[in-house]
Amino acid sequence: MNVSFDRHRRLRSHPALREMVRETRLHVADFMYPMFVMHEAGRAPVLSMPGVEHLGLDEFRREIHALSELGIHSILLFGLPAVKDDLSSEAYAQDGIVQRAIRAAKEENPRLLVATDVCLCAYNPAGHCGIVHGDRIVNDVSLELLANTALSHARAGADLVAPSDMMDGRIAAIRTTLDTNGYVETPILSYSVKYASAFYGPFREAAHSAPSFGDRKTYQMDPANAREALLEAASDLDEGADMLMVKPALAYMDVIRALREEFAVPIAAYNVSGEYAMVKAAAQQGWIDERAVVMEMLTGMKRAGADILITYFAKDAARYIKEQDVPDSCGIGRWRNGSKATNRRKHHRPMS
Ligand code: PBG
Repeated sequence: MNVSFDRHRRLRSHPALREMVRETRLHVADFMYPMFVMHEAGRAPVLSMPGVEHLGLDEFRREIHALSELGIHSILLFGLPAVKDDLSSEAYAQDGIVQRAIRAAKEENPRLLVATDVCLCAYNPAGHCGIVHGDRIVNDVSLELLANTALSHARAGADLVAPSDMMDGRIAAIRTTLDTNGYVETPILSYSVKYASAFYGPFREAAHSAPSFGDRKTYQMDPANAREALLEAASDLDEGADMLMVKPALAYMDVIRALREEFAVPIAAYNVSGEYAMVKAAAQQGWIDERAVVMEMLTGMKRAGADILITYFAKDAARYIKEQDVPDSCGIGRWRNGSKATNRRKHHRPMS
């Protein structure tokens, strides 16, 4: 057969060579680990997200140390308030659950990067991300409460605030409020491209934040739209966002890539609750190899262009990465005895 073609398999023949030409690598510094804190002591499992728990501050403090042992240096906080009211008061209360958790985290590990989710949906009985008048979610009156929430987090010691409400103008409102109160150095990671997604289902059980009426389609984006993602991101950058986010991740890899190509700022991908639950459920059935699937998904998000991976798998993935660093079966003995090595030597022998 006299056919000419490229031999792409050459560079796949040896494990060390595959490692060497690998274009994308996961690192534990990529991860931001979402956590749910509650006023009650102890731990309570989130049934739809095996491995995820609501943590009382006692257990939360313990977990902070477990994370640093794994090399995870960044968390994203969500709170379960003691009371929900129409003004979402606990969202910006000095002794709110998130504010207390920020202080606790800083006491346990001052070097931990503590990011907070800024939203109202877990703090009002309507379960919407802004203030509700009748059956409408009102944009402009929500801005002050969101800005107050971000400010209260910064005051408690948060290193970074991440508004997830999708009200227009919230980045400008939060930036101005932070700046006028002396928090010019506090960065904003905007949930700039957040779709109205069915993949948030398990989270709403976890955060007790399901809307009591309607849905989030008047403020979160239509999953069918990609050009609109560029508009949302551009507005947030104009208003003062330091970093952007695409959420969910798996069904929106093209959007991560589009943002990557358009903007120079760091981009986060949020590997959301439904994505986590699907993998866990299939793995529990023995239908997929959880470890391999998790690493493949996270690698895909990074390859698509994400710098930061917000994922409930952070602890598992940190362990997998550590184990990968241990030299595997590609040791010298096997290389010497392998038939591939012998063939190669024969192939390159000088012709004489
Ligand atoms: C709050 C918020 C949500 C998520 C993060 N922040 C839920 C929602 O918008 O309904 C989703 C996280 C996940 O599904 O893992 N607005």
